[in-house]
Amino acid sequence: MASADGFGDPATLFNRPTTRVDGVAKVTGAARYAADEPVTHPAYAYLVVSTIARGRITGFNLAAAQAVPGVIDILTFQNVGGQIATTPGPDGGPTTTSLDTDQVWYAGQIIGLVVADSFEGAREAAHKVDVAYAAETPSATFGAAGLKSEPQKPKKGPNPKKGDAAKAYASAPVRIDAKYSTPTQHHNALELFTTTAAWDGDQMTVFEGSQYMVGSKANTAKGLKIDPIDVRVVSRFIGGAFGGKGPNPRTAWVALAAKRAGRPVKLVPTRDQGFTIATYRAETQQHVRLGATKDGRLTSFYHEGWEITSRPSAYNVAGAETTARMYACENIATGVNVVHADRATPGFMRAPAETPYMFGLESAMDELAHALGMDPIELRRINDTQTDPTTGLPFSSRHLMDCFDQAATRFGWSRRNPKPGMMHEGDWLVGYGCATACYPTNIGPAAARVSLGADGKAVVGLAAHEIGTGAYTAMAITASQALGLKITDVTVLMGDSDLPPVVIAGGSNNAASTSHAVAKACEAVRDKIAQAAVKADSPFKGGDPAKLKLVAGQLIDDTGHSEDLKTAVGRLGSRVEIYAENTPQGMPPGAMASVEKGQAAMSGGGGRKDVSAFAFGAHFVEVRVHDRTREIRAPRIVSAFAAGNIINPIAAHSQLMGGAIWGLSAALFEATEIDRTHARYANNNFADYIVPVNADVPSVEIIIVPETDTRVNPLGVKGIGEIGIVGCNAAVANAVFNATGKRIRDLPIRAEKLL
Ligand code: MOS
Repeated sequence: MASADGFGDPATLFNRPTTRVDGVAKVTGAARYAADEPVTHPAYAYLVVSTIARGRITGFNLAAAQAVPGVIDILTFQNVGGQIATTPGPDGGPTTTSLDTDQVWYAGQIIGLVVADSFEGAREAAHKVDVAYAAETPSATFGAAGLKSEPQKPKKGPNPKKGDAAKAYASAPVRIDAKYSTPTQHHNALELFTTTAAWDGDQMTVFEGSQYMVGSKANTAKGLKIDPIDVRVVSRFIGGAFGGKGPNPRTAWVALAAKRAGRPVKLVPTRDQGFTIATYRAETQQHVRLGATKDGRLTSFYHEGWEITSRPSAYNVAGAETTARMYACENIATGVNVVHADRATPGFMRAPAETPYMFGLESAMDELAHALGMDPIELRRINDTQTDPTTGLPFSSRHLMDCFDQAATRFGWSRRNPKPGMMHEGDWLVGYGCATACYPTNIGPAAARVSLGADGKAVVGLAAHEIGTGAYTAMAITASQALGLKITDVTVLMGDSDLPPVVIAGGSNNAASTSHAVAKACEAVRDKIAQAAVKADSPFKGGDPAKLKLVAGQLIDDTGHSEDLKTAVGRLGSRVEIYAENTPQGMPPGAMASVEKGQAAMSGGGGRKDVSAFAFGAHFVEVRVHDRTREIRAPRIVSAFAAGNIINPIAAHSQLMGGAIWGLSAALFEATEIDRTHARYANNNFADYIVPVNADVPSVEIIIVPETDTRVNPLGVKGIGEIGIVGCNAAVANAVFNATGKRIRDLPIRAEKLL
């Protein structure tokens, strides 16, 4: 597979349908999640969280809690002063989670940590901690008194703007002016946000689900004010992350508790605490104005958003960065505003920016198609472009319309009656809707160690992340292909910060970042073996080492000579082992060092100087709305994606299907309800936080449109972690409009909104 850059020809790489190498371990329970890791004689921690949303803690009465049998320690701001440093929030800005302050920023904030001999003892004592507050009236969300709104201060340059959108809108013959909103959402991963910390002298090991091993290590060391070399983070399997599991302040607090207790401490927070101790998707309001010619060409694009955040942090997702790039348009104006409320600082949750903002844009595009009397697919076709409208750079590749066309055919779009309310089946109104999916393509620095033995077995090691997406299998495929081995002859080690460092698994960069590092290490292994072979008394003596390949357990050349691995590797010893780092093209040389310091460096999307790097897709949804009850069902989804080289089509299919279902969930079910008086979440449990079950999702078809992208990165991998969810919410809303003639601009769409 060798080529000039050592990465092989993107057109012939991957696409290996492979069942999960860790599948058996997962279904037999052998796979260890963080809280499953055994530690010796642990104590158990339980969190005390604030019951007010705004104010100060004036005192604790701990007498009753301390009297509970087996209680070892109770950490509060009154007794941890100076022992831990405050670490920043998800955007690097101020945090709303610090154990070292009397300040209450939001309801459910961690204000104490009870440690006891048993989980039950810790829980009982936590409930007996008596907290006195000086409470103030909180502002919960949009519409409350006392909010503070300010324009976002973009770090990466100004919000996309071009031409004169207001003037073009004023003279546009066809116009759409609409406001949309999306609700608060929480990840609700099956695995809770657990942390176990164990000290061995000055060395601390933490078992915690992490999407960013070396970041968690750096952040925890910072929190404990110790050298990162003394911290090891282990996270071999994660039971769902979605952006919610990564460096966070809790790790250092549990480690401090373990140090004070003189034994390991295990924290398993409750489901409801998961709603307030980790990141979440904040609610948005959006305003979209589109101007178009009578034949559907966009002449004016305006998209402005308002996002809720905490009092001290300006965290926001700024999704108009993406929406402004979707369609050709000469006049663009975008803006994002942060609205400070008495809430936790939000954070990453799958496709943080695109999920809410593409709902606004893709709903508005459907409204425009309707106003024009034009098919929604044709409207996208007329405005399709191979050039990023905000920068003028070419897209590295863009097969949006292929996605629309293939999914439309499979879906049977031609049977759609564009006039709303015209399609019936029995007591049900039927509606068809579609929308664009997209996600920026990112890549970051990663390192890997690859060791190939004379026994024909390889070990691949890197501090990468199995967040449920099939990363172990993707790495096994990469190495088996590059080293010419069977999948079963490759062992992949990940999830340990002692392994070679890897950038955060976020922004859908994981497959691209890690596959490049592993491929590079494998290529160096091949090269070392080949170099030795041409110098030795071998069939390749005096030949060109670049022409030697590892195929099916043999070293071969292009003239039919071959040698088994036992001999080829054996001449260098029992194993050939290489450590390789890959810093993607265009990134500064110090990028890897930044990653190791916990500053997740990535390149991609609209931030590149040479191309604009995005993956595209299209969702088609059929809904049924009951004539009288207005019950909404979605019997069918067909979604197509063009996302570059696919390493494992089986895993990609599952990931994209899961994304589409999550999009359906966002459209019809999910919302975290906020009690406006107390600024507390009302449905912080699995019974009341509604997600689809199998009966809600009868058929989801996924089409993977083949795409060879030679510009996005050497292996042509775009990544498919997040694109599946994007736009599906709008496709559902557009189908509901087609069924009923009612345009629902505020998610989720529930029966009562259609009465
Ligand atoms: Mo994704 S929200 O970058 O884990």
